[in-house]
Amino acid sequence: MTSPSPTPLRDTFGRQVTYLRLSVTDRCDLRCTYCMAEAMTFLPRKDLLTLEELEFVAKAFIRRGVRKIRITGGEPLVRKDILTLFGNLGAALGQGLEELTLTTNATQLAQHADDLARAGVRRVNVSLDTLDRNRFEEIARRDQLAQVLDGIHAAKAAGQKVKINTVALKHQNADELSDIISWCHEQGHDISLIEVMPLGETGEDRFDQYIPLDLVQQKLETHWTLDPEEKTDPLAGPSRYFRIRETGGRVGFITPLTNNFCTGCNRVRVTCTGRIYMCLGQNSHIDLRTPLRESTDPEKALDEALDAALFAKPERHDFAIRSPGEAPSLRRHMSVTGG
Ligand code: 5AD
Ligand code: SF4
Repeated sequence: MTSPSPTPLRDTFGRQVTYLRLSVTDRCDLRCTYCMAEAMTFLPRKDLLTLEELEFVAKAFIRRGVRKIRITGGEPLVRKDILTLFGNLGAALGQGLEELTLTTNATQLAQHADDLARAGVRRVNVSLDTLDRNRFEEIARRDQLAQVLDGIHAAKAAGQKVKINTVALKHQNADELSDIISWCHEQGHDISLIEVMPLGETGEDRFDQYIPLDLVQQKLETHWTLDPEEKTDPLAGPSRYFRIRETGGRVGFITPLTNNFCTGCNRVRVTCTGRIYMCLGQNSHIDLRTPLRESTDPEKALDEALDAALFAKPERHDFAIRSPGEAPSLRRHMSVTGG
C-alpha cells in the first residue's frame, strides 16, 4: 500500500493545477487544414496508454487536487471503447472530481450523447468552423457537416450544455462569424472564437489563415453591443467572454497570439502516450508512461513525476505568427495534446 500524496500540484509561479486535459488518441476522422496535414502519420497503437492506464493517470491527478478533466484528442470518440473511460471517471464525480467533459468534432456525437450524459458529462465543447457544407469540406477536408449538426442536436437533446469552438480563419470563415454566432445563440449555445496557433506542419501557411481576434471583435461591434462578463468560474479556460445585447448569448475570445493569458494558467495536458506537457506553447514535457509501466510502485512513481513536471512548468508560451512561410513555432500538432 502506498499513501496517496495530498500535496496540491503547485508550480514555481504559485499557480495551482486543478484542470487536466487528457488526450486519448492522436487520430481524427477529419483533417482540418489548420490542424493536420492530409497525410498524417499517426502513432503506433502500442505506444498508446491503455484505457486502464489513462484511468490510473487521471485518478493520480484527482488525488492531487485536479477538479476538472477534459477528455480530448485528436478526436476522442474515435478511440475504441472510450465510453468505458468516461463511465469509470464519471464515478469519481463528487469525490474530488467536479467536472468531466470532452472536446469533440461531433461527427460521432449523435451515437454517444446519451451514454456520455449517463456517465455524468454535462457540458461538451464542439469544434465547428462553418455552417456551410462546401466550406466545411474545404476546411475539414471531409464532407461531414450534417453528421456534426446531428451530433450537436443529440447533445442538446441529452441535456448537455454545448459550447461551440470556432477557429477564426482569414479566408475561410471570417466573413461568416456573425452568422455562426447568431446561429449558436438561437440554438442556446455559447461560442468561443480561437486564433489559429502555429502548431505542427499542415501543408498550409498559417500566415494566410491567421486573423487577429481584435479585428474580428471590432467588426462584430459595428452591428452588435458586446458587454464584458465577469469571470465567475475558476475552472473556466482562457476565453474572455462578452454578452451580446442583441442576441442575448455569449461569445468568448481565445487570443493566444494577441493577448497572452498565461498568468492564470491552471492546467496541464497529458498525451495519449503518457507525456505530460506543462504548457501548450512549449516543448518541455515529462514521460509518465515509463514510471507507470516499469515502477514497482506506480502510484508513488507517478506522484514523483508529477512533482518534477510541476517544478518545470514554464511561465508562459511564446508562439507567434510573424511572416509568410515561416515554420510553426512548435513541430507537434494540436492533435497530440488536444486544444
Ligand atoms: N490553432 C488553433 N486551434 C486549433 N485547433 C486545432 N488545431 C489548432 C490550431 N493550430 C482547435 C480545434 C478544436 C480545438 C481542440 O483546437 O478546432 O476546436
Ligand atoms: Fe480533428 Fe479537431 Fe484537428 Fe479538425 S481540429 S482535424 S476535428 S482534431
